[in-house]
Amino acid sequence: MQQPWNAIAFADLPIRDELKSQHAYGAPQLDVPVRLNVNENPYPPSQVLAERIAQAVAEAATQAHRYPDRDFTQLRSSLATYLTHDTGVAVDPDQVWAANGSNEVLQQILQVFGGPGRSALIMTPAYAMYEEYCRTTFTQLHTLPRKEDFDVDLDRAIATIQALQPSVILLTSPNNPTGTALSLETIEAILEVAPGMVVIDEAYTEFRRHGVPSAVALLPRHPRLIVSRTLSKAFKFAGARVGYCACAAAIVDAIKLVRLPYHLSAFTQAAACAALAARDEMLSQVEILKAERDETVRWLRGLDLEVPDSDANFVMFGRFEDRHLIWSELLRDGVLIRETGPRGYLRVSIGTPEEMTAFRTALLKAMHSQRAVFG
Ligand SMILES: Cc1ncc(COP(=O)(O)O)c(C=O)c1O
Repeated sequence: MQQPWNAIAFADLPIRDELKSQHAYGAPQLDVPVRLNVNENPYPPSQVLAERIAQAVAEAATQAHRYPDRDFTQLRSSLATYLTHDTGVAVDPDQVWAANGSNEVLQQILQVFGGPGRSALIMTPAYAMYEEYCRTTFTQLHTLPRKEDFDVDLDRAIATIQALQPSVILLTSPNNPTGTALSLETIEAILEVAPGMVVIDEAYTEFRRHGVPSAVALLPRHPRLIVSRTLSKAFKFAGARVGYCACAAAIVDAIKLVRLPYHLSAFTQAAACAALAARDEMLSQVEILKAERDETVRWLRGLDLEVPDSDANFVMFGRFEDRHLIWSELLRDGVLIRETGPRGYLRVSIGTPEEMTAFRTALLKAMHSQRAVFG
């Protein structure tokens, strides 16, 4: 017999009107041999490091009857040291904020600087979650398409910003799903006209090609700039859920107005500090992944596909008459990639050499059978 508490259907719930037609965000989590769909780092931490992280978590467990340090002082200090090392810009711990993934950091920024009667501007194609942060925070979302090469159309961006006066401008560099990095000149030109906050989402920044700078370099000159980052990608710590941002100390104080009490658990703080202490090991495969990415771009272009330059750990490629067919064929061969981006495009995350061989083999097969279908 069905229990009464399960008798209620989703449609009967008094959900907010604008949520009723929505679907929960999330890429398929399928148990297949080759998973190249959510831009993870395919290399796990070593056993020795995993044990060191476990030891740090065990020590935190001895104090688990107490709430954690709500300002996560030690973690902010470790993140500031890492940022200074990566960018050469001196970042203080009070200029750093962190949360459970950069998703939470970005949502907190929208909670503080967006809201009812305010708007945010993004450049599309963009990371799908931006729309959700705006919906959740009742911020009106404006979108401006990027140019054909997926760079920001600066003249149109400036005109749009002047016309719409958005409270928040959210730019991604390198961009997901295109892989395109923005120049500092473009970001500065946008900062010149932005009436509110400018957020640069640098989730993939450690994969940028040689000579491509981080927007952290602009922080000393631009007090309304926030640079958001994550340990989920190059840092191979997606399972721990740690994202962070660098910004003026006053912005950190503003974000504290919306954070939930003790939002970063003692276990997360301990694990992240242990991982950051092993920075060189955590990042040790980044150069291998960058080389594999560049090789993947070359190989896909050799198939006469359209492939934008990528500064990230993924490559977008197309255009297929029926991308879903290609995606399904790859999945049938045990290779999961992402059906995302503009019409006709697909995105593959960079995996190990073995995984990329499986991807190439499956793609060639799928393209061959699609050609057979479409003649
Ligand atoms: C552009 C971009 N920003 C932010 C995130 C969120 O990452 P996390 O919450 O794991 O830090 C992602 C995840 O894929 C992303 O692609």
